[in-house]
Amino acid sequence: MTSTASATGSPHYPSPVSEQDYRERYRRSIESPEAFWREEAQQLQWMQPPQQVLKGRFGENHSHISWFEDGVLNACVNCVDRHLDTRGDKPAIVWEGDDPSHQRTLTYRQLHDRVGRFANMLRSLGVGRGDTVTLYMPMIPEAAIAMLACARIGAVHSVVFGGFSPEALASRIRDCDARVLITADISQRGGKQIPLKKYVDEALALEGTACIEHVLLVPCGDAPIDWKARDINASELIETHSPECEPEAMGAEDPLFILYTSGSTGAPKGLVHTTGGYLLYTAMTHREIFGLREDDVYWCAADVGWITGHSYVVYGPLANGATTFMFGGIPGGPPDYGRVGRVIDDHGITIFYTSPTAIRAMMGHGEHIMDSSRRDSLRLIGTVGEPINPQAWHWAHDVIGNGQCPIMDTWWQTETGGHMMAPLTDAENFKPGAAMRPFYGVRPALLDDQGNILEGEASGSLVIEGSWPGQARTIRGNHERFEQTYFSVFEGHYFTGDGAHRDADGDFWITGRIDDVLNVSGHRIGTAEIESSLVAHPAISEAAVVGFPHDVKGQGIYAYVTLMQEATASEALRQELVETVRRDIGAFARLDIVQWAPGLPRTRSGKIMRRILRKIAANEVDALGDTSTLTDPGVVDALIENRINR
Ligand code: WT7
Repeated sequence: MTSTASATGSPHYPSPVSEQDYRERYRRSIESPEAFWREEAQQLQWMQPPQQVLKGRFGENHSHISWFEDGVLNACVNCVDRHLDTRGDKPAIVWEGDDPSHQRTLTYRQLHDRVGRFANMLRSLGVGRGDTVTLYMPMIPEAAIAMLACARIGAVHSVVFGGFSPEALASRIRDCDARVLITADISQRGGKQIPLKKYVDEALALEGTACIEHVLLVPCGDAPIDWKARDINASELIETHSPECEPEAMGAEDPLFILYTSGSTGAPKGLVHTTGGYLLYTAMTHREIFGLREDDVYWCAADVGWITGHSYVVYGPLANGATTFMFGGIPGGPPDYGRVGRVIDDHGITIFYTSPTAIRAMMGHGEHIMDSSRRDSLRLIGTVGEPINPQAWHWAHDVIGNGQCPIMDTWWQTETGGHMMAPLTDAENFKPGAAMRPFYGVRPALLDDQGNILEGEASGSLVIEGSWPGQARTIRGNHERFEQTYFSVFEGHYFTGDGAHRDADGDFWITGRIDDVLNVSGHRIGTAEIESSLVAHPAISEAAVVGFPHDVKGQGIYAYVTLMQEATASEALRQELVETVRRDIGAFARLDIVQWAPGLPRTRSGKIMRRILRKIAANEVDALGDTSTLTDPGVVDALIENRINR
């Protein structure tokens, strides 16, 4: 790439798509969806090409939404075997561990070998079509290999982020009835070690986890491992298996994986993604939104435990035959805040996909952290997970990207499978902080509280009209909850849970969650999950949790806690509560603030008024709005008086 920032500061670099091309293609995708998607489906390698495209509609028997239903394919074949003839010696996965001296590269041919052996190893343990396998892994190539091995034999993987606690792991194993657990002894990040194996042993001692027959463990650390009878050394066993492994012929609508995510109520939901539509959609969005080129070295800094890792570390890039870089450290530090730049230089990264939180973390340490790198291989930066504030956008653009890279702010969700919005336009038209435009085939709309469609410049609830191939199809074991959560809030529309603004040009700005879901450093946490952890503590009678604006994390966690009559507030109790939530959910769910609340504001029907609690937490006490429906307005005054934040 030769372009540079112009003297006026206005960027002159190639964008993935021109304004005109986007508009034409988008129009076609909306006007003739059947033809559009039928043609796109040819990008995959099918064992039996589909005749059908979309079946079903939201709000009308939407339980039967299906894409390419009569098509037959294998996701692993699409991600690996398909490339052997043309890209056999091209790096498929390049990995650098937390320790920079730990490096590995797997070409597509080598990946094929490892995945085949891993798949045979799983089969030898009796795992097959339709069985569920839980992964609890560090960011190592084996995480991707294990996912692909499951896909090869038709097993459904359920990846649990390595930062979750044993309790959280156990509940996710229980819910999907997993037969095998794949893990490692340790996960090393930021110079610290997370004892995965110890957590696994704790999880498997908990009720309801006896479904696990075997634990396949990939040794990563130096310390001796406490092997139990159910444990198998995966690194040894794999070598006894052949690399040749016949792939299962899967229906397009057969489940590919389950991924748990938090909602506004109840326990985390196991969202089910299926094979054909998901793979097509992730590959296509990855290719088009990043304008993928054959020689790209692409780095998505997300962990495989989240949807971003599934769609844009593993499935999308590998389906496209790209080189995907996996990083075991913490992007944006600690301990080394400028390492991102050197990783980019060392590996010649051309596309860097990260989170606003990571950008803000780097920004907080000053521009000089980038002095140790040039980053001139970079041609595009992507962001995901939360709205990006203009300051962080400019820092990413000017400092990380040397003023030469478009910033693709991608808005999407675990439920959507892949990108739903991004700045699909000429670089000159980018608006820092706006995801801007729907991807092909995606029809966003804004609704008011009564469900009326808002036209023109407006703010409201963001919904999607009509299905797209990458959408989740159900919640494992609870289809009714799926319909209730996503399709009954506004009948006939997919409810995103996000608010958005559409500006006078028709471009979208995501404003954040409008339900009781928090977004802490890009990690999605349900307030209900934190509350139920808190009220299980014997000293607590009630708890209400809300988010508040946090400079680095985007949102912090603010807990209002009412004590049992006989309990007394103390620093020790506060710390105990922080620890309780950490134990039940994970270290990333750290309570930032605990306020002792003698009472909580309620409506006459007894509902806690979270709107008011959010305002108090954000220190916007002049803008409390209508408090006339409260049973006891005095409660609010007491909370304001004792508020802790700043
Ligand atoms: C929620 C989904 C999608 C992968 C990572 C998170 C927020 C995501 C953006 C963005 C503003 C964003 C939304 C969404 N979000 N991307 N570009 N701009 N907000 O997946 O854990 O399912 O969370 O993340 O609030 O609903 P997730």
